[in-house]
Amino acid sequence: MSCSEDKKFSIAVVAGDGIGPEVISEARRVAEAAASADGVSLKWTEYPFGASHYLRTNEILPDSALNEMRAHSAMMLGAIGDPAVKPGILEQGILLRLRFEFDQYINLRPAMSLPNVPTPVPLNGRKIDSVVIRENTEDLYMGLGRVSEDGRLDAPMDLKRGGYSLTGRLSLEISPSMAFAAQTALNTEFGVERITRHACQMARRRGESVITVVSKSNAVPALYGFFEEIARKTADREFPEIKCNMANVDALCYHLVRDPAAYGVLLCPNLFGDIVSDLQAGLAGGMGTAAGGNIGDGLSMFEPVHGSAPDIAGTGRANPIAAVLSGALMLRHLGLDGSAGRVERAVSKYLEGSRGQDLPIEFGGNFTCRQIGEAIIKNI
Ligand code: NAI
Ligand code: MG
Repeated sequence: MSCSEDKKFSIAVVAGDGIGPEVISEARRVAEAAASADGVSLKWTEYPFGASHYLRTNEILPDSALNEMRAHSAMMLGAIGDPAVKPGILEQGILLRLRFEFDQYINLRPAMSLPNVPTPVPLNGRKIDSVVIRENTEDLYMGLGRVSEDGRLDAPMDLKRGGYSLTGRLSLEISPSMAFAAQTALNTEFGVERITRHACQMARRRGESVITVVSKSNAVPALYGFFEEIARKTADREFPEIKCNMANVDALCYHLVRDPAAYGVLLCPNLFGDIVSDLQAGLAGGMGTAAGGNIGDGLSMFEPVHGSAPDIAGTGRANPIAAVLSGALMLRHLGLDGSAGRVERAVSKYLEGSRGQDLPIEFGGNFTCRQIGEAIIKNI
């Protein structure tokens, strides 16, 4: 029934820790069901990386695995993290490494109202349908920082990104001498242009004529004034039909809580995008439904926004919808719009048809992770 017979895609999977393997297992089954309904097959390669692998073997993410992953069509990731591992090691060693290594410069985080999913703020009959387009390789998240114990800091600030390399030093001295920390943030013309292009393309695809540029140019004029200026210039030059509305991030958070349905595409520098997308996820219904993608011109990686939730791992309480919807983002990225739509409609139909009991435990029902996956597949 489809024109895409014989299509095959290979997907690298890092299910990870805690509830990661539970939700990824459902996301895979749903994606497979949707794709096979369109005559497309998905072949999965599993990788063991994460906290438990690290604790067992001391291995974080070997180069050989990175090279293998590169050859896949896309990647799915569950969640990485365990209270037994010092924070930072795996975030830097796995999550950030993958994002930088594959130059995944777009962090795509949609937030939408779903049937029967309670929201913390009344929507008065309106629906949330917004998407954060977060720059994913620059700003405060470049790892260019140090702590000084003795009032002096002199550190190399060298790094490589997809489109450039940066060399130099950060050299500071404080008087009177005291311990201090400094972290450098950078936004480049290259980086802001390419993320703005993506945000404008997204607005076009959604049939919208405005994007909101989330910034803070009043208090941080160099870094975020620059971001605004390049965003505006890029949009004016390449997308004349799209208007950039500038918003300071603090005011935006205020307005988001009061009227969460008022926004469409939110273009954010890395730091604000991290924060605003969690706020949007909370307003739209919670961690259990927030999906995400890290997208670049090479290997792109799709993952739920939530972490490994060690507090509910192994209990069946995990809601796999966030992972399932991340799978839909992956299918759309692979050009399988039909299959992606099938997954999204199946999630909506399942939620719409649930009579309380069969809602996810997260939303007051008693359906387990596995039962939710099965119910979604029935609606494919
Ligand atoms: P978390 O997202 O794992 O959990 C926060 C709260 O939300 C918990 O109460 C949890 O039970 C609940 N929750 C999360 N996902 C859920 C789901 N699908 N269904 C139902 N309830 C859900 O964040 P937390 O507790 O701060 O971090 C736990 C571990 O995960 C840490 O090691 C952290 O570093 C890691 N982490 C990893 C991420 C990743 O791999 N991308 C992202 C965020 C955290
Ligand atoms: Mg976050």
